[in-house]
Amino acid sequence: MIELDNIRVVHGAGSGAREAVSGVSLTIGTGELFGLLGPNGAGKTSLVSVLTGLRAPTSGRVILDGRELGRDGADLRRRIGLAPQETALYPAMTGLENMRFFGSLFGLKGPSFDRSAMEILEALGLAACSDRPAGTYSGGMLRRLNLAVALAHEPDILFLDEPTVGVDPQSRALLFSRIRDLHGRGRTIVYTSHHLDEVEALCPRLAIMDHGRLIACDTLPSLLGRMPGTIRAACGPVPSDLAESLAKQALGTWTNESGGFRLECPEPAARAPAVLERLIAAGIRPASLEVRASDLHSVFLSLTGRELRDG
Ligand SMILES: Nc1ncnc2c1ncn2[C@@H]1O[C@H](COP(=O)(O)OP(=O)(O)OP(=O)(O)O)[C@@H](O)[C@H]1O
Ligand SMILES: [Mg+2]
Repeated sequence: MIELDNIRVVHGAGSGAREAVSGVSLTIGTGELFGLLGPNGAGKTSLVSVLTGLRAPTSGRVILDGRELGRDGADLRRRIGLAPQETALYPAMTGLENMRFFGSLFGLKGPSFDRSAMEILEALGLAACSDRPAGTYSGGMLRRLNLAVALAHEPDILFLDEPTVGVDPQSRALLFSRIRDLHGRGRTIVYTSHHLDEVEALCPRLAIMDHGRLIACDTLPSLLGRMPGTIRAACGPVPSDLAESLAKQALGTWTNESGGFRLECPEPAARAPAVLERLIAAGIRPASLEVRASDLHSVFLSLTGRELRDG
């Protein structure tokens, strides 16, 4: 279990000081695949650098299974792997040599290390180019090698900071499938991203960060459940007394649109059948009926008043 107790991170000093993380407290359970989502500059990387022990927090504590990171034994660092946002690899070394270098930082070497390093490279689709200098890899291959070296010492807690920057959809699918495998094998994974769709697809629980603070931390269903979804029908005009009654029944807000209506309500999928039934009973047969649940875009918008666009 990882516990963050009121973490603050201030970069720089004096008049140039900048608070990147402003009192974040949160708990991540063992074996969770946890999303840390926020726009550029939210403080995600600053928080990850504290969680991985790369820097000490300005104040606050990180407790890992009851022991304080940075105080209580260097062996804790060994349990942590980080695939940093800026890939940190040696271009003149081959893929395997990079693995060996990062393994050696933890005293790992020899034939059995090479075997497990090759297995990791294989799983990330890099076995065939393991003897080529990393400097000759494409951007997507470098991202995969960045993850491979983070796994070299077989950490049980893994931090992935924007692991899909600059990768094509195929490499992204491979990364996602490896991340799901690692999660399935019990690793604790913190996945940092500003891509709403990635966090939504991967992470059952997540925190949303903005301006150095956590503005939400919950399971995906309960975050989405906070926001209404939409039932939209192309059915021509609906008599106003029926519209009023349907809105009341669905606990929603009715808007007439050209060619039909839009009904914003909680749990639209659960309410749509009753709406359709009452329309048909009133002699109205929609040409189409669209049910759209809430998504993280609307959650983010409602929490911050701003759009968070992918990209
Ligand atoms: N080494 C540093 N020195 C000074 N300021 C810094 C440093 N690192 C980060 N910052 C500032 O701290 C704030 C948070 O930055 P951080 O990199 O943690 O955000 P982020 O959420 O990871 O953003 P991104 O999505 O762009 O990676 C930003 O305002 C940034 O300019
Ligand atoms: Mg970052």
